Amino acid sequence: MNDRITVRIADTRPEGPKATTLYVDAGMEVLPGQFLMVADFAGGEKPFSVSEAEGGRLGITVREYGPFSRRLRSMEKGGLLSLRGPYGRPFTPRPGDCLLVGGGSGIAPLHLLARAILAAGGRVTVVSGARTRDEILLGDRFRRLPLDYHETAEDEGEGLTAVDLAARVMERKRPDFVYAAGPEGMLAALRPRLGDLDYQFSLERYMKCGVGICGSCTCDPTGIRICVEGPVLDRDRIEELEDFGRYKRDASGARVYFPGALPGA
Ligand SMILES: Cc1cc2nc3c(=O)[nH]c(=O)nc-3n(C[C@H](O)[C@H](O)[C@H](O)COP(=O)(O)OP(=O)(O)OC[C@H]3O[C@@H](n4cnc5c(N)ncnc54)[C@H](O)[C@@H]3O)c2cc1C
Ligand code: FES
Repeated sequence: MNDRITVRIADTRPEGPKATTLYVDAGMEVLPGQFLMVADFAGGEKPFSVSEAEGGRLGITVREYGPFSRRLRSMEKGGLLSLRGPYGRPFTPRPGDCLLVGGGSGIAPLHLLARAILAAGGRVTVVSGARTRDEILLGDRFRRLPLDYHETAEDEGEGLTAVDLAARVMERKRPDFVYAAGPEGMLAALRPRLGDLDYQFSLERYMKCGVGICGSCTCDPTGIRICVEGPVLDRDRIEELEDFGRYKRDASGARVYFPGALPGA
């Protein structure tokens, strides 16, 4: 189903001071890692993952960053949303020992994935990290599932990042497969810690059309579009990318370098 639909928000659930899960009865199947283009009738349309999907009811966990997400996350039950999708390539749930590493709102699609892996007979360990404890999302949902859950707030205790904590977890038990979603800097820091482990990462690049037409989310040098060939990429696809962890494009198409990644380096 890829047509645009208008739905009422069936319920909302606050997720700490900066995020809310909006529930809609959208009557569509969304696979873990796929995304919807969401508009609120006040201007703009942006991509969001699905964090929960049960009996046709979808949860979209919106973390406030700028004007659009601020508006979206303060919407109330009964408010109207316009949705397109689901779009993109999903994660592939595997039946072995799976480690899921999420940073900030990147944890949202991993919640849906954890449930799919458990349903496929896999064993799941989750590492969730954020800058502050308030920004760690969906911890209560993960704790209700039969899995091994770890979280870290960078402004507390040892100041561990999600990558630091994932490395500790992997020292104790090597997983068969790693899935990760979050800021690209986090994914780039995680990659060398994985050695020869196989993985899938979900990338967030600037999206306008969401369906492969505008070129906004294209990666160098292969030209793959994150909205179509991603957002979930296999290890071999990631390793082909020159821009992974170095730069992405903004709304104008200009390169924006990630902190610490120098042009030409
Ligand atoms: C595949 C995908 C799935 C996502 N899933 C979630 C989710 O489940 N929950 C969540 O809170 N956020 C998610 N996001 C991010 C969400 O799209 C942005 O937070 C939102 O667009 C911010 O808009 P803004 O106007 O509030 O912020 P702005 O101030 O415009 O931007 C804040 C940040 O969001 C990024 N951003 C802004 N517009 C876009 C855009 N059109 N496409 C991609 N990134 C953009 C900017 O690069 C910047 O880093 C996802 C992004 C992608 C690409
Ligand atoms: S957002 Fe237009 S090609 Fe990906």
